[in-house]
Amino acid sequence: MEKNEIRKSVLGKRNNLSHEAQCLKSEAIFESIKNLAFIKETTCVASFVNFKSEVQTDAINQWLLDLNKILLLPRIDPSRKIMQFYQVTDLNQLIVSPYGIREPNPLIHPHHPSHAIDLVLTPGVAFDNSGYRIGYGGGYYDRLFASISEKVPRIGVAFAIQSVPNIPTDTYDQPVHALVTENGLKNFKTPTASL
Ligand SMILES: Nc1ncnc2c1ncn2[C@@H]1O[C@H](COP(=O)(O)OP(=O)(O)OP(=O)(O)O)[C@@H](O)[C@H]1O
Ligand SMILES: [Mg+2]
Repeated sequence: MEKNEIRKSVLGKRNNLSHEAQCLKSEAIFESIKNLAFIKETTCVASFVNFKSEVQTDAINQWLLDLNKILLLPRIDPSRKIMQFYQVTDLNQLIVSPYGIREPNPLIHPHHPSHAIDLVLTPGVAFDNSGYRIGYGGGYYDRLFASISEKVPRIGVAFAIQSVPNIPTDTYDQPVHALVTENGLKNFKTPTASL
């Protein structure tokens, strides 16, 4: 299947999850993330704010803040095709972008360069058995991963129905090192041995 067909098919399944299923699965994903011993050693975590039918991340982001992590959340700049990260200390201070995504407010949230990141919690539409991912098609995470060290762990955060056997890849596509779903953590062959 082509990327676009996979994107459409998985988004269809994800949009069909009931609100209750989404909440329960998101809670299970949060539990799996809490069990990642590795997270305790990180300082600066790039996470994301859920949009539409994505895994709900508010509880995860609040937990990271409670652990005194530097929490970075993205803002998309569609005209420059880049994503920039800002430090957020209070999730209530997020503002709604023209696309309806809750984003940091650059007037109050400090910008952080991407080389400061030591863990990326990565959204996506679909992930395959090698860690390759499909996003919404902007290439934002591909560009981010190309600009930071391959050693910085990238963990996909998704529902199990977003796992597909095989995604066709382009030269610029960047895989994640592990995927956390409501069924737990799955490691791919990665530069960072075990998470
Ligand atoms: N490192 C890069 N530098 C410049 N352009 C890139 C880079 N990576 C990807 N792109 C461009 O981004 C576009 C979209 O890529 P792709 O279809 O793989 O998006 P995606 O992985 O689904 O999206 P996203 O990463 O935003 O979730 C492609 O046209 C590609 O040329
Ligand atoms: Mg891609």
